[in-house]
Amino acid sequence: DKGGFKHYMLKEIYEQPAATQAAFHDRIQDGLVNENVFGEQAAKIFDQVKQIQIIACGTSYHAGMIAKYWMEGLAGIPCHVEVASEYRYRPVVIQQGTLFISISQSGETADTLAALRDVQDQILASLTICNVPGSSLVRESDLHLMTNAGPEIGVASTKAFTTQLVALLLTTLVIGRRFSLTQEKEREIVNALQQLPSLIEQSIAMDAEIEEMSQAFAEKHHSLFLGRGTLYPVAMEGALKLKEISYIHAEAYPAGELKHGPLALVDKDMPVVTVAPRNDMLDKLKANLQEVSARGGELFVFAGCTQNLQSAEGVHVLGMPEIPEILEPIVYTVPLQLLSYHVAVLKGTDVDQPRNLAKSVTVE
Ligand code: M6R
Repeated sequence: DKGGFKHYMLKEIYEQPAATQAAFHDRIQDGLVNENVFGEQAAKIFDQVKQIQIIACGTSYHAGMIAKYWMEGLAGIPCHVEVASEYRYRPVVIQQGTLFISISQSGETADTLAALRDVQDQILASLTICNVPGSSLVRESDLHLMTNAGPEIGVASTKAFTTQLVALLLTTLVIGRRFSLTQEKEREIVNALQQLPSLIEQSIAMDAEIEEMSQAFAEKHHSLFLGRGTLYPVAMEGALKLKEISYIHAEAYPAGELKHGPLALVDKDMPVVTVAPRNDMLDKLKANLQEVSARGGELFVFAGCTQNLQSAEGVHVLGMPEIPEILEPIVYTVPLQLLSYHVAVLKGTDVDQPRNLAKSVTVE
């Protein structure tokens, strides 16, 4: 049942305020994360963690990339992240005290499952962040944290991703306690989380504006997505969404890499999308883009509202609500989902069931 929406994907985008809420609200007790929700053995296992290895595919891999910024940046937990299909086929060095975290919407992705099975006897323990109760990854992992997104039907992952990020943030907090994360900081983040559903609602409210913006993409064959820090994986996720459902070639780069090559590609046929919550990155970007605007390059900026940016020749600015830094990657994902959705609708593709793709990749 599409609940009155034209596509499951749109319905699932609109479900994100409730879905993200379901991903955290039962897990908070007295302003802190209740670590028992990870499983009976959780405390004992977390006490022994020395580092983390995250494994996933596709959108779930992008969630893992963001988690790495959080694990290392917020809590000083050494953290590696790799796509499952690479990790499982190369000789790997697994250090003592490694918690293996798999991230998967379906819990059935063949490469992710194989990676876990291969390392079972070399790791401290396994934790899966998963949306499907009783799935193979849940059954075969020592600990699990369900994302509580509810069934996701659209092949393009939307609410599964934002709820994975919530679950990964909770995971960072409980393990972070054993590293450099203070209780004060944990309370601050838990507090910020309470605002998440309404912040997502505010970005969904930009839907009409984003739909209008999508017209600039419908006739294009290529596009670039830029972001910095935790917004770099968000740019990757935005590019993946656009490729997947609109069949427009989209590449994501860390913003700082633009001048190291891809800038040469930019002209009037190559729109550049950037997620830029704060000024630091934008100033540099604008300088880069000035060189490009002479060639008709067009920049679409999802910007923090404090920036007082104005749209100008070749620069289109969409102001985002004010967002606590920790929540930026979650909230900035939403307008990119809407952008790819509207571009796909304009192009008339099969949004919920893009060509050549399956919802769950259970074979190699
Ligand atoms: O079920 P999983 O999260 O393990 O699936 C991983 C990928 O196949 C999946 O995220 C895929 O990239 C999505 N279709 C992206 O929208």
